[in-house]
Amino acid sequence: MRKPKWWGWISPAIVVLVVLSFIPLAMIYVARNSQSPIPRLSIIPDMDNQPRYKAQMESPLFADQRVMRRPVEGTVPAGSPVGNSLLTQGIVGDAWATAFPPEIELNDELLARGQERFNIYCAVCHGYDGSGSGAIDVRVQRLLSNDPTEIQQTSWVTPSNYHTDTVRERPVGHIFNTITNGIRTMPPYEKQLSIEDRWAIVAYVRALQLSRTASIEDVPAEERNVLESMPWPQQEPPAEGLADPAPAEPAVEDQDAPPAESTADAAEQPVAETGGEGGA
Ligand code: HEC
Repeated sequence: MRKPKWWGWISPAIVVLVVLSFIPLAMIYVARNSQSPIPRLSIIPDMDNQPRYKAQMESPLFADQRVMRRPVEGTVPAGSPVGNSLLTQGIVGDAWATAFPPEIELNDELLARGQERFNIYCAVCHGYDGSGSGAIDVRVQRLLSNDPTEIQQTSWVTPSNYHTDTVRERPVGHIFNTITNGIRTMPPYEKQLSIEDRWAIVAYVRALQLSRTASIEDVPAEERNVLESMPWPQQEPPAEGLADPAPAEPAVEDQDAPPAESTADAAEQPVAETGGEGGA
């Protein structure tokens, strides 16, 4: 077999070409695996780069040159309630509504719904009875008394007690607004609660308040004798019981006080004054 005449130079040329063909691959590899401050080469730019404005920039396009445009007068955010300020804001004219909107029918169903929502969204802070000593407050108070250094640098506002004259005298529209927008340190609950649910909670808050101020005259005449025939407890229930469960507290104090004495103390005092069931 005789090799053609050109074979002599073709084989080294092929070797050189093969080696050269690796160069673009190597370049692509390096480009893809390294970083560079220079914008990358875009062979087909599509719409990768477009002119745009940044906040506060100027543009000759608008008469006032402002790039940041205000929404058109009267724009309402999507999904926000429009009109009927009594129903949606608890406002009549310039004042807080003092009566429920006609759309809200006050009945057992509404109260039950209000109670359910209240127990989910409000009781953690305000307590199931609205006294302001919900689980979160109880916990904070305990932390405050156990750890005077770290926690006391935070500020904690105890949730309002509904059974004060201030909150009792709030018009229903004001309470509705408190739920919608929050008040002072209390956060808003507009996102979590529909308008109907907010009114239902207002009704339940009123019911809670009434539960502390009602007299026998508020009970329908035909129900009164049922109530009066009930066996009432002789003593007032311990009022602080809710505010201060304090089962863990004695651990520290016991080291100072002899246990025998503290038991005796607890036994002598009526339950209502010890504020807990420590001795038992
Ligand atoms: C995260 C805890 C927290 C939750 C949950 C919470 N509140 Fe409050 N609420 C507060 C605090 C704290 C205050 C007192 C705010 C202040 O004085 O700075 C307050 C105050 C109030 C007041 C009295 C405001 C006034 O002065 O008229 C009402 C009424 C009230 N809350 C109702 C509700 C209702 C109804 C809910 C449930 C939808 C609720 N809160 C949920 C913490 C909470």
